[in-house]
Amino acid sequence: MTNKLLLLPGDGIGPEVMTEVERVLDRLMSRHGLKLDVETALFGGASLDEEGVPITDAVVATAKSAQAVLMGAVGGPKWASVARDLRPEMGLLRLRKEMDVYANLRPALCFAALADASGLKRHLVEGLDIVFVRELTGGVYFGTPRGIETLADGSKRGFDNQVYTSAEIRRVARVAFELARKRSNKVTSLEKSNVMESGLLWRQEVTALHASDYSDVQLEHMYADNAAMQLVRAPQQFDVLLTDNLFGDVLSDLAAACTGSIGLLPSAALGDAGKPGLYEPIHGSAPDIAGKGLANPVAAILSLEMALRWSLGEVGLADQLYRAVEAALNNGARTADLGGSLSSTDMGTAILAAL
Ligand code: IPM
Ligand code: MG
Repeated sequence: MTNKLLLLPGDGIGPEVMTEVERVLDRLMSRHGLKLDVETALFGGASLDEEGVPITDAVVATAKSAQAVLMGAVGGPKWASVARDLRPEMGLLRLRKEMDVYANLRPALCFAALADASGLKRHLVEGLDIVFVRELTGGVYFGTPRGIETLADGSKRGFDNQVYTSAEIRRVARVAFELARKRSNKVTSLEKSNVMESGLLWRQEVTALHASDYSDVQLEHMYADNAAMQLVRAPQQFDVLLTDNLFGDVLSDLAAACTGSIGLLPSAALGDAGKPGLYEPIHGSAPDIAGKGLANPVAAILSLEMALRWSLGEVGLADQLYRAVEAALNNGARTADLGGSLSSTDMGTAILAAL
């Protein structure tokens, strides 16, 4: 049976970076023996415009039946005033929830050739290789009740709910511990157990799982606000950072910026073993540069690299693709976000040449 890969280009720069991913896929299939059944579907604002919803039931079903799903980006000012449940972002949240991809791996690594592109001093980021394991299908993103209500005096009250169960905490913590064993064997678990009940439960569950199953891994607990400071002060102290959904959203952007450009970093959202993974560049739809051919396709191409590695059983090809990206950067290939002048297509071509 041939593995299926579903591409969801989405909105903004999504289609542009996905075009470069498709060129890489064509090359891997024509010259490197990759066998894959590739499908493409509408997603986000593009789906809303065409189908009236940010993702259709049919696309959700296709995603669940694929081995891997690779998306570009969703959202943009065009859909800013759309009802909340129809917003492009809701298509993404639904897809994550229905695919049950609860563990979001977000590497923040600094390519040697780009150590000077970071806003941080070179010695702080040179060789940086840390990874977030962000809980992705729970917490305040999905907790109920939520809403905006009108009070008796006519003023309003907006509320969300941060909720975590033991099972939700333990399954994502397990992914972090397993990953750490393959890396530098250290997990730093982030929460605000000093002020939040869900944070306290988070710390208790992670501590208990560590004691019962992972005592060989070094575990450290840190308040999420302190972690924000440590990430810009001394990011190399970390290996695997375990976080809830919201802290992971915020802190992974921060860490990405430390590596030089958010246009470089991929992510993988994984569920239980054998289930399909969802792969996303961590940059957004970047409406300000959309359609101009300026977007850096590296994050999307490295998301394909992660899909090959984690869902498609093609670790050898993933290694080759990673080295090709690294080589292109070493050869000086730079898009505008990295201070260069290459277009998205030129960058794709440089990576293909290295491949
Ligand atoms: C991300 C994004 C999403 C999130 C949005 C687009 C829903 O910011 O993947 O980091 O908040 O999870
Ligand atoms: Mg985000």
